[in-house]
Amino acid sequence: MSYRNDPYDPKQVALLDPAALAEAVAAAEKTFAAAGDPDALTALRPAHLGDRAPVSLARREIGALPPAAKADAGKRVNEARRAIETAYAARQEILEREQAERVLVEERVDVTLPYDRRPRGARHPISTLMEQISDLFIGMGYEVAEGPEIELEWTNFDALNIPADHPARGLMDTFHIAPAGGSAPAAGDQAGSGLVLRTHTSPVQARTMLTRQPPIYVVVPGRVYRTDELDATHAPVFHQVEGLVVDKGITMAHLRGTLDHFARAMFGEGAKTRWRPHYFPFTEPSAEFDVWFPEHRDGPQWVEWGGCGMVNPRVLRACGIDPEVYSGFAFGMGIDRTVMVRHGVSDMRDLAEGDARFTRAYGVEA
Ligand code: DAH
Repeated sequence: MSYRNDPYDPKQVALLDPAALAEAVAAAEKTFAAAGDPDALTALRPAHLGDRAPVSLARREIGALPPAAKADAGKRVNEARRAIETAYAARQEILEREQAERVLVEERVDVTLPYDRRPRGARHPISTLMEQISDLFIGMGYEVAEGPEIELEWTNFDALNIPADHPARGLMDTFHIAPAGGSAPAAGDQAGSGLVLRTHTSPVQARTMLTRQPPIYVVVPGRVYRTDELDATHAPVFHQVEGLVVDKGITMAHLRGTLDHFARAMFGEGAKTRWRPHYFPFTEPSAEFDVWFPEHRDGPQWVEWGGCGMVNPRVLRACGIDPEVYSGFAFGMGIDRTVMVRHGVSDMRDLAEGDARFTRAYGVEA
């Protein structure tokens, strides 16, 4: 290294004095200690370790000393410089650690704070399940059919072999929208029929058969209404999926196989099902179809999933289909029930209340 261009200042020789060097070290330690953060410390470095710092200037004087004094002076300067470097490094370490700790505190993220100020809504599990059921039956070659929720009394009852004086009509707790005009409509007479909120999805059976010829393979997911109080097992608005098949040579074995397949798709391969003889005016013979509900709040038990049977020839005839040529099966399953058994939901009110904390858990179901 050459200092050729540096002017020689005789006063600087004093810098090699042990007391002067000690003072330089003490001054450096004192100022470093006062630095509050790494940047402030960096700014102090040139004054104590830079080219014009006392220890640097002192080193330059060594060359001018008599040879005997050089080694001693060199050692002193080096020690002084090392002491300043050490003080600098020590302070730097402390300040950097303090800064890191400060950042951890100041920039701490409270992960318990609500992160989702405008939470995304979730689809209701009943909606997603209705789509899954439709997909399942579409995969078996069915079509999805729909009908109005405000239904003719005629389609809701009469066409399904439930005439006005039939006891089954009184058993369905019906919301009446408009009374029948004039005298009660005769069988097959839709004119003058009253209006009701449909009590089941079965009227869509009649609508389908009236508008097309067999082969018929349809499913009808939809909302239905009955004058029930909302409690753990009832709701005035609930959901059913109707199935209707009309074709040549359809038997009860087809019905059973279809419902077992449906049950396994809904409740898993190990789903347990049974059917019990029952009565419905629109099917003959008729059955109720049960599934095993292992997580029922009152302990594992059978729950009624829906009704089913072979389409009553009277219904086929009322809808313009020849029962001598065609036969069919039909079923109507509760969708709310299906969600409850699938997901271990014991209280119907959880499904009806629309609390996002309940539905969000199902929100990702495709
Ligand atoms: N509609 C009936 C109900 O709501 C259920 C039902 C039973 C539907 C038998 C059907 C059936 O299609 O064949 O209680």
